[in-house]
Amino acid sequence: MRPSSDKKIFANKKGDFNMALTLQSGFSFDYDNLFGEGKVTQADLDFYKEDLKKAHEAMKVMRESGFIKAHLSKDGAPEKVYFSKLPYITEENGKLNLNSPDSIKKLHDFTEHLRNNVDAVVSLGIGGSFLGNKVLFDVFCGEFWNTWTKEKRKGLPKVYFSGQNIDPRRTGDIINHLKAMAEVTKSHEGRKYKVCLICISKSGGTLDTMSNFMVMYDEFMKYDDIDVEVVAVTDPNMEKKTLLKQLACDMNWPTFAVPDGVGGRFTVFCEVGLSTAAVIGMDIEKFLEGAKHMDEACQNDDIWQNPAMLNAALKFAAAQKHGRNIEVMMPYGDYLKSLSEWYIQLLAESLGKQFDKDGKEVCYGRTPLVAVGTTDMHSQTQQHQEGALDKVVQFIKVANWKNDLTIPNVFPNYERLAGISGVTMGEALEVARQSNSDALKSNKRFNACFTLPELNEYHLGELLYLLAMSVAYEGELANVDAFNQPGVEAYKRIMGPKLSELRKSKGL
Ligand code: PA5
Repeated sequence: MRPSSDKKIFANKKGDFNMALTLQSGFSFDYDNLFGEGKVTQADLDFYKEDLKKAHEAMKVMRESGFIKAHLSKDGAPEKVYFSKLPYITEENGKLNLNSPDSIKKLHDFTEHLRNNVDAVVSLGIGGSFLGNKVLFDVFCGEFWNTWTKEKRKGLPKVYFSGQNIDPRRTGDIINHLKAMAEVTKSHEGRKYKVCLICISKSGGTLDTMSNFMVMYDEFMKYDDIDVEVVAVTDPNMEKKTLLKQLACDMNWPTFAVPDGVGGRFTVFCEVGLSTAAVIGMDIEKFLEGAKHMDEACQNDDIWQNPAMLNAALKFAAAQKHGRNIEVMMPYGDYLKSLSEWYIQLLAESLGKQFDKDGKEVCYGRTPLVAVGTTDMHSQTQQHQEGALDKVVQFIKVANWKNDLTIPNVFPNYERLAGISGVTMGEALEVARQSNSDALKSNKRFNACFTLPELNEYHLGELLYLLAMSVAYEGELANVDAFNQPGVEAYKRIMGPKLSELRKSKGL
């Protein structure tokens, strides 16, 4: 089962040898501190050899037909799983409301509609209808997009996110902020401020999203200096329309589709995530191309050449055989924090399951944690380094930072400050990550690293797709349905009547 060593061993800059799977693109998965003596062993993987074979077969079937054994929709009916088709832009996929040349053109047309026309977009959604969108925005726009001039944004709108909570303060703040912007526009340019509300909900009626949407829609419609347009992103089914779909039809709002067979946490590659990609003018084709090339790599029958199978197998074995059932997702870089938050949903909703596919109670699921390097080295690392032996720390590293900054020697007489000068911040960041990794390794702490050669659409597509495909593999290994989320219905069943009671008590 093990590959010839030249396939997976490379020398790092220091001349040390690390075990890693490196793709032609330069994307790599370094598992040196996760596999070997005292870590996940070859014997561990051999123990799961048959399960891995079956999981790999199941992925083949899923790719070809969308079939996943025992997967049922919320309504209890068998449901296809189509996320693995999303990287492929084909006419064929268009028939399933997945990505097609027409749908991609529609997204580009949306970008051009917004350019030099709409001042601000508010993207409203929660869970899978938010987290992936936020990753794309943070990675490609950063913190200050909304403060840039329109020219610097290439005529594209400011972007705000709402609906990911039912928080009156923040919603009120966004409303007041946009009204203030409208006042400035009126007095400087003598025109109305144009706001586009993108309301994203697959089910079409989620409380968090729809309450924010109604509050904002009402406020902006009543405000003279704001012109409102609405785009609805929801299940496109015309026979059994979602509430949002019905509303969009009645109000004549344009729509994008959340396709059947694509669960919330996999929607970053469909029109949910791509609606934000269009708003910020991201290279959608490159993003999908990265995902596609990762999907191709993940079709390899050899575990040592298949990033998703290898990642899933190592993490699964680390949990089952070594008790490492917490995964700390720790990218190095501020704007990658939302990627970690996206991953939390992916892992938690996909694998946290009480019953397996045969109805047996298993209470399975590794627990995901958000961390960011270097920030959390100053808070969580004590726990990672000396706490319970129950974690795998999964690093994400960007090898080359665009516009890296050199730390200057501005205070040469201060030895400690002079001692950190001359290197770039990107290099210092990597020294910090590497030191954290070495320290963890020295104390039997499992860790691994995904390396992106740079932070661009292509490599982000590779990484997000790899993580999505990994949980699909792990679902098969653990024999749980990675594509349902029955657990989130429990509170919803309690919340509905509670809301009705509240309305009644208010005489509504
Ligand atoms: O993964 C999921 O299915 C959930 O997190 C949903 O995305 C979330 O509840 C929002 O649902 P909807 O898009 O139907 O409003």
